Amino acid sequence: MGERNYILVTGGAGYIGSHTAVELMASGFDVLVADNLSNSHEEVIGRIGEIAGRTPVFEKVDLCDKASTDALFDAYGISAVIHFAALKAVGESVEQPLRYYRNNLLSLINVLGACGRTGVESFVFSSSCTVYGQPDSLPVGETAPVKEAESPYGSTKKMSEEILADATRQNTLRAVSLRYFNPVGAHHSALIGEYPIGKPSNLMPVITRVAAGKLPGLEVFGDDYPTPDGTCIRDYIHVMDVAAAHVVALERLLKREGQPFEVYNLGTGKGHSVLEMVHAFRDRTGVDIAYTIGPRRPGDIEQVWADVGKIRKVMGWKAQYGLGEMIDTAWQWEQALETLEPGISRGGGE
Ligand code: NAD
Ligand code: WQD
Repeated sequence: MGERNYILVTGGAGYIGSHTAVELMASGFDVLVADNLSNSHEEVIGRIGEIAGRTPVFEKVDLCDKASTDALFDAYGISAVIHFAALKAVGESVEQPLRYYRNNLLSLINVLGACGRTGVESFVFSSSCTVYGQPDSLPVGETAPVKEAESPYGSTKKMSEEILADATRQNTLRAVSLRYFNPVGAHHSALIGEYPIGKPSNLMPVITRVAAGKLPGLEVFGDDYPTPDGTCIRDYIHVMDVAAAHVVALERLLKREGQPFEVYNLGTGKGHSVLEMVHAFRDRTGVDIAYTIGPRRPGDIEQVWADVGKIRKVMGWKAQYGLGEMIDTAWQWEQALETLEPGISRGGGE
């Protein structure tokens, strides 16, 4: 094997992976993106290049395929992996549990196997605040118990962390699991953003689509929760802050600092209700969001926000962006989507 030049970013054509690729390249890393494009578009690779000034290497690979995954690791000198590749639609995971377990667990196991075989020792994993369920106390810290998952998707994150805990006990692998709260927003260039195939189900993309006139209105899922305005509370975090945290975590791993397996919350530490988000969007953009109050969405957590003390203390990282920038960039991105080729615009039901 030649020199280990590349940071392998699996799922790097996706939402968070593409923003992280930009941040990695800005920090001087060479990026190899592996993605099967099941929820993304190859055009994103060129856009990462436009922002970063150089284009990442791209390989279309299904990481559930062991032979292709091994071939990828044999073809490139990989020094570390940031593993974003997964299916992430909570509702869909309830309808298609085996597809979620197969995709999210097999891809992880194949990538970890290839790391072991080729001596890659640094691994960053995309986990989720979903592992906490409804925490007993807030803000929720990393030592809070991991609860029974609300969905097969959540279950894959919980199981993946267990796999990583075991894998890092057995060999030289070191891993950081970042438990994201609610990533929103886009790169300020509006060249990349949340760009999935199909209909959005998360709050911010629904809000921006309503604002753009592509959806008639927002249905607020329940206003009878025991929160100040009755709607659910989440810790929204700018995707560029999420991206930056990956670079810091990677650098910690490459320096071989800390324990073989560490978990960190990735949030701002501030909670906002659904109605606060709707009103903040109007105040920031001047665009009213028509909404109706609907029933609670099954499986929704009432309220959750992060204790971000650990990542701040250990890695010196904290969120730089506030709600205003999250809204501005999400809205700019929604408007930029208008100018993209119709065939690849979001929500086309491809
Ligand atoms: P995304 O769907 O935009 O990106 C995931 C990428 O992985 C897609 O480009 C998809 O094509 C690719 N992929 C999926 N299965 C693959 C496979 N078998 N082989 C190769 N590529 C594959 O999602 P995202 O929002 O960028 O999420 C990235 C990661 O972060 C996921 O693991 C997700 O579960 C996790 N996460 C996301 C959120 C969120 O709200 N977006 C919150 C917590 C955790
Ligand atoms: C936010 C709030 C909804 C849409 C999900 C996953 C989680 C993580 C992030 C991946 C909730 C309300 C939403 C709408 C609404 N993903 N809402 N009307 O559910 O916190 O988290 O994405 O790991 O695991 O579960 O995010 O954006 O879907 O919802 O009222 O049309 O907005 O009820 O209170 P959620 P979300």
